[in-house]
Amino acid sequence: MPRQDPRDTDMNSQPNNRAEPRHIAIIMDGNGRWASRRHLPRAAGHKAGVQALRGIVEHALTHRIEVLTVYAFSSENWRRPEEEVRFLMDLFITSLKEQVQELHQHGVAVSFIGDHQAFSKKLQQAITEAESLTGNNQALNLVVAANYGGRWDITNACRKLAARVAAGKLEIQELDEVQVGRTLSLGHFPEPDLFIRTGGERRISNYLLWQMAYTELYFTEVLWPDFNHQDLDIAINWYRERQRRFGQTSEQLTVSTVPD
Ligand code: IPE
Ligand code: IPE
Ligand code: MG
Repeated sequence: MPRQDPRDTDMNSQPNNRAEPRHIAIIMDGNGRWASRRHLPRAAGHKAGVQALRGIVEHALTHRIEVLTVYAFSSENWRRPEEEVRFLMDLFITSLKEQVQELHQHGVAVSFIGDHQAFSKKLQQAITEAESLTGNNQALNLVVAANYGGRWDITNACRKLAARVAAGKLEIQELDEVQVGRTLSLGHFPEPDLFIRTGGERRISNYLLWQMAYTELYFTEVLWPDFNHQDLDIAINWYRERQRRFGQTSEQLTVSTVPD
């Protein structure tokens, strides 16, 4: 039997051939270096990073981006010095509490992906409150990846799917890319069109491994606290120049065809 093209049935991985990105995924990197260049503690870089995110969210709203997914804390970031991890956890709580009302007023729906069981009760509560307050908003989906890892995400989806098979709710033969994609984090959103990593590193650092299979990858030297609306425009303009082929040839695309 020929292998089914998941794009035939899966809304989420349908190619986005529009010139504008619907979903932007960012690795907000470079806070520490931004601070050390100013002879400041790393914590100051993280605080400045929160302000940068605020500006980018505003700009995403004006661009009518549907989904903005930002990497705030990876599953590997627990390896950092205890003091830095503690500072980051406190910063998540204070930033959430400070900004959630304003985000709500702007119509931003805030949600979180990642394994939150390791977080304090206080942080888990702040997350739940932010998600339930803003859940029905329509202007922009801001997804914060916190204690997130792409490998964790895939493993977690495997566990859920295996449980459904064991319970007799899913046949092994029905298990396909569409099912896996829907079971992963972000399964109800279109896949990222544009990935941006600030801070000069050219790696994915265990971010959205499955979801970024066909994402356009943009890397910039700009450190996250310095990344502003002009930098976002540069990245979006770069994206507009890409020809997204999804396996096809350029010639096929010029005569048209991939469904929108
Ligand atoms: C990203 O900035 C923020 C987090 C990982 C929480 P970094 O803290 O990694 O900054 P650099 O890479 O050390 O400059
Ligand atoms: C990735 O940045 C995670 C976040 C931005 C939250 P890192 O700075 O932790 O990535 P590596 O460890 O240098 O790859
Ligand atoms: Mg870093």
